[in-house]
Amino acid sequence: MDELLRVQNVRAAYAVGGREVQAVEEVSLTLREGEVLGLAGESGCGKSTLATILALATKPPLYVKSGQMVLEGKTIDLTLGAGLPRELRGQLISILPQGALNSLNPTARVRELAYDVLKAHRPTIQRSEAYELTRQRLEQLGLPARVLENYPHQLSGGMKQRVVTVISTLLNPKVLIADEPTSALDVSSQKAVVGLLKTLLERRVISSIVFIAHDLPLLREIADRIAIMYAGKIAEIGTNHEIIDAPKHPYTQALIGSILVPEPYVRQKRVEGIEGSPPDLRSPPSGCRFHPRCKYAMPKCSQTQPPEFGTPERFAACWLLEAVKS
Ligand SMILES: Nc1ncnc2c1ncn2[C@@H]1O[C@H](COP(=O)(O)OP(=O)(O)O)[C@@H](O)[C@H]1O
Ligand code: SF4
Ligand SMILES: [Mg+2]
Repeated sequence: MDELLRVQNVRAAYAVGGREVQAVEEVSLTLREGEVLGLAGESGCGKSTLATILALATKPPLYVKSGQMVLEGKTIDLTLGAGLPRELRGQLISILPQGALNSLNPTARVRELAYDVLKAHRPTIQRSEAYELTRQRLEQLGLPARVLENYPHQLSGGMKQRVVTVISTLLNPKVLIADEPTSALDVSSQKAVVGLLKTLLERRVISSIVFIAHDLPLLREIADRIAIMYAGKIAEIGTNHEIIDAPKHPYTQALIGSILVPEPYVRQKRVEGIEGSPPDLRSPPSGCRFHPRCKYAMPKCSQTQPPEFGTPERFAACWLLEAVKS
């Protein structure tokens, strides 16, 4: 598969109360044409911050200190802040923000929300043309065109999430970043949203998806590759099978260990939780950021940050892999 997006050395922080929250630390990623990249990790590990940066939607108090992104041959300096080429939003890269369902303007019908998106990029578009384009897109994706007349509160959570997804992809962006699009939904609505995302890829409306979710079993179904984020860094990356079936990083292993697994006779069993919580990113731990919670921590772990052992496609940032490598 051809490379579509390359993100290099992103470091970013929120400036709050004279201190910095180091939310993203040296993150590099690639995304290929046609693939779904899953992004997982506990709350507060920087997933939404990274999503905001990739979607060129950075604004104070979030500052990108270093990093660039190459998308469709265009190199974008992510540190530009107000100077970011925001016109590319929606067209090349689009985001479905976390909690998008609840942030829709309650007084606007769906057709008006769609018109606003199209008008931002085609200022002369007529309302009737915008409605017609949206109607066609809804029908193409198997959704009822009548939702155009609805207000957000008239739609179920699952339908609202699908409608927001359709609206955010009206301009056929290459990359869609979906930040926890299924977290607030019941299982059947989750399936409907995942089905819609797959259809968008199959019909080539979009070329690839960054899918952020807590739900590793769901990511195993939908993602081709998975990146695990801990305390602002990518702890491990690999194919969905490598990450779920053969995780190398103790954090990934702990995350997978805390998944609820179905047991015969007992409904569900929690195998093992992860003790403690992610660190306060105003003063992250020295060395490996996972060391205070890691049952394998060695003296060196609290002193020196582990490099990424492996290849850009399959690595884990953990000192345990040094011995394996040498
Ligand atoms: N607007 C903000 N101001 C200050 N800190 C923030 C802000 N948004 C997020 N953070 C902090 O940045 C870190 C990463 O948050 P976030 O990207 O939302 O993580 P995730 O999406 O993985 O839950 C957390 O420590 C969070 O408290
Ligand atoms: S580097 Fe050390 S503390 Fe960090 S995950 Fe590996 S063993 Fe644990
Ligand atoms: Mg988030």
